Amino acid sequence: MNNNGIARAPRAIYPGSFDPPTNGHLDVIVRASKIFAELTVAVVVNPQKREPMFTLDERKSMISECVENLPNVKVEHFRGLLADYAKEKKSDVIIKGLRVVSDFESEMSTALMNRSLSDVDTMFLMSDQKYSFVSSSMVKEVFFLGGDVGALVPDPVMRFMSRKRELLRSSS
Ligand code: PNS
Repeated sequence: MNNNGIARAPRAIYPGSFDPPTNGHLDVIVRASKIFAELTVAVVVNPQKREPMFTLDERKSMISECVENLPNVKVEHFRGLLADYAKEKKSDVIIKGLRVVSDFESEMSTALMNRSLSDVDTMFLMSDQKYSFVSSSMVKEVFFLGGDVGALVPDPVMRFMSRKRELLRSSS
């Protein structure tokens, strides 16, 4: 039951690359954790877009540290089709975050494809508008070029990014 005594839908999956997780991702996680009894943040092993900067373990650890205070949220990973993973996990819903209207265009066809594959529905949550311009790729680019992204990522992520920068500097 939520605070209003309304039964929550049981299970949801929030998938992504999380390379790295941003405050926008965390905002969606917090919102979804209030709606669903059980939320699994599902980190894709091999993001399609490009080789990730952070390893799977790093991406999972960053999220785990950020959700320590959310008892109904767990962090897992998946390979292959999201639709297959959702079916295997008996998940009722896939959660996707929307930042701007243009996000919806590709998300809608993805949602329809996932539903045609596994009959799983996708629900969209809008992150806070103050994060509407924040993306993992932009955060990485700005940070590694020396810009301040402290307001855009959770503290644990900032620590992981700083460590990664040191490692990259010492190996170059
Ligand atoms: O954070 P991202 O990179 O936008 O997340 C994308 C993700 C992981 C949700 C998407 O790439 C995905 O679902 N990958 C699994 C492969 C898959 O199912 N592809 C078909 C979707 S139509």
